[in-house]
Amino acid sequence: MTKPDVLMVGRYPEWEMPLFERDYVVHKLWLATDRARFLSEVGPAIRAIATNGVLGAGAELIDACPKLEIIACFGVGFDAIDLDRARTRGIRVTNTPDVLTEDVADMAFALILASMRRIVEGEGFVRSGAWTKGALPLGKSLNGKTLGVIGLGRIGRAIARRATAFGMSLAYCDIAQDLDAPHAYFHDPVSLARVSDILVAATAGGAGTKNLVNAAVFEALGPEGLFVNVSRGTVVDEPALIAALEEKRIGAAALDVFWNEPNIDPRLLGFKTVIVQPHHASGTVEARKAMGKLVRDNLAAHFAGRPLPTPVI
Ligand code: 8YV
Repeated sequence: MTKPDVLMVGRYPEWEMPLFERDYVVHKLWLATDRARFLSEVGPAIRAIATNGVLGAGAELIDACPKLEIIACFGVGFDAIDLDRARTRGIRVTNTPDVLTEDVADMAFALILASMRRIVEGEGFVRSGAWTKGALPLGKSLNGKTLGVIGLGRIGRAIARRATAFGMSLAYCDIAQDLDAPHAYFHDPVSLARVSDILVAATAGGAGTKNLVNAAVFEALGPEGLFVNVSRGTVVDEPALIAALEEKRIGAAALDVFWNEPNIDPRLLGFKTVIVQPHHASGTVEARKAMGKLVRDNLAAHFAGRPLPTPVI
């Protein structure tokens, strides 16, 4: 049997490559020097796209592959995939939920702890020798604080579980109240920010949540508040965030994602009150192995005519 042709949009972990190449003819888009030419040459043969949460698959890519049957995303977020275009063409889309939930929630807490307890600053303090001349300014306690979660999905719930273990109160906002969740519900991020010491964005990206966290939310969070983002850069009005940090209308920010990553706004790096990470919340060997397997399981199920393990559409 001939192997189906797969268009791989961005680099996958090294360990995935022999497994993909055993079952598919893999075309590596990120290595193409002339993307348009590459797509015009291989596009007609492509039956599957293997992408990730950041690169996704836009209309241009989908349209370049007339025989495309499935788009498998290495990531839970599928906001960068043109679902309307896929739906119109009857193309299936899959993602990798669950397997990264706990690690992403851990990153949210790593960022919260790093910011509240001045971990990054403290590291520099010891290494630079500043410790011999004085003491690090005091940090802030997590215990007794209120954590506001924007988006009580799988990741939001995992963050909530951790908040309880840290002795924090939990409040959340979402499009609808979850009657099974014992936490305080707010309909909108501004009302949530008003009661929160720490506000974490854990919602999906895409048009529906664009700039959901804006100047009014930062105003409500206040000068002692910490904003944490482990969702998508698009969820935040970044100029408003920078202005709020500049004018000290919020206390601090800890960010794993940015609207134009990896070319992030250099102004963010100028704040002592900002901690940054390279979109690495799911960046553990365990999560990435499970994500890779789930991408391959979805593709294998599709080509064998079996139900997809984790379909989006
Ligand atoms: C990945 C993500 O870092 O799951 C997501 O939506 O953004 C991350 O897990 C991303 O898919 C890039 O590999």
